[in-house]
Amino acid sequence: MSDPTRPKGPKIIAISNQKGGVGKTTTTINLGAALAELGKRVLLVDLDPQGNASTGLGIDADRRETTTYELLTEEVGLGEAIQETDVENLWIIPANTDLSSADIELYSNEKRIFLMHDALRQHAIDGYGFDYVLIDCPPSLNLLTVNAMVAADSVLVPLQSEFFALEGLSQLMLSVREVRESANPNLRIEGVVMTMYDRRNNLSQLVENDARDNLGEMVFKTVIPRNVRVSEAPSYALSVLDYDSNSRGSQAYRAMAKELIARNTTVKAKVVA
Ligand SMILES: Nc1ncnc2c1ncn2[C@@H]1O[C@H](COP(=O)(O)OP(=O)(O)O)[C@@H](O)[C@H]1O
Ligand SMILES: [Mg+2]
Repeated sequence: MSDPTRPKGPKIIAISNQKGGVGKTTTTINLGAALAELGKRVLLVDLDPQGNASTGLGIDADRRETTTYELLTEEVGLGEAIQETDVENLWIIPANTDLSSADIELYSNEKRIFLMHDALRQHAIDGYGFDYVLIDCPPSLNLLTVNAMVAADSVLVPLQSEFFALEGLSQLMLSVREVRESANPNLRIEGVVMTMYDRRNNLSQLVENDARDNLGEMVFKTVIPRNVRVSEAPSYALSVLDYDSNSRGSQAYRAMAKELIARNTTVKAKVVA
């Protein structure tokens, strides 16, 4: 039950696609940084045992004593798990390989699909006044991803501009439907964003046309170009916005953040109208 005395919670978005290497982590970091730059208060949750979002924002191993794993296994509370990043308005709950055993360890827990949901609803989150929580999901439709979908308001799907990109989507949509029918009837699709787009490559355009024909308005107008600055930034532990503010990658993620905010405002206006 929602508590009317509590401040309105953040919008929670699971960034998911069971394919690896499609730009989930890159989008989590840079969309998060772009929203933060616009003055939104953003929490990133690293839900991938590979911990790439944590590494990409410079959270070293010695700062990963309390991670998403301890949060899900209820060893620590939310307040202890949230850490500052070097980016203003951006916080993170990091992850490491401990999370790889969570799938099996949590299986006997009867609340196993609600652990992230319950964790993000602790009162400790109120004081931060987050506008957005972005969950970087692992490349699989496992228990961790289900936890993210049960906790989330919506799912954002990065789609690599490559052949077969659309193939895995029906499986992903099936998972969304299952979560809707079981634990989270309000789960929406936030949208699909084309990543690593190469304007000189016909294939990118074909995949884009295919996606827009099949998915219509669900596809973000903003496409994220393949841009070497985007791929270099994590090795400097920076978002691309801080690494090269004027790069095409930075501009694209800024445009995407604005589009996301505008869409959310329109949706709210429609609901009210
Ligand atoms: N727009 C982009 N331009 C260039 N390289 C990119 C872009 N987006 C992602 N990459 C690179 O592609 C690889 C996979 O991206 P990543 O975000 O880690 O995917 P996922 O989290 O889905 O596995 C990484 O090496 C990343 O740096
Ligand atoms: Mg990743």
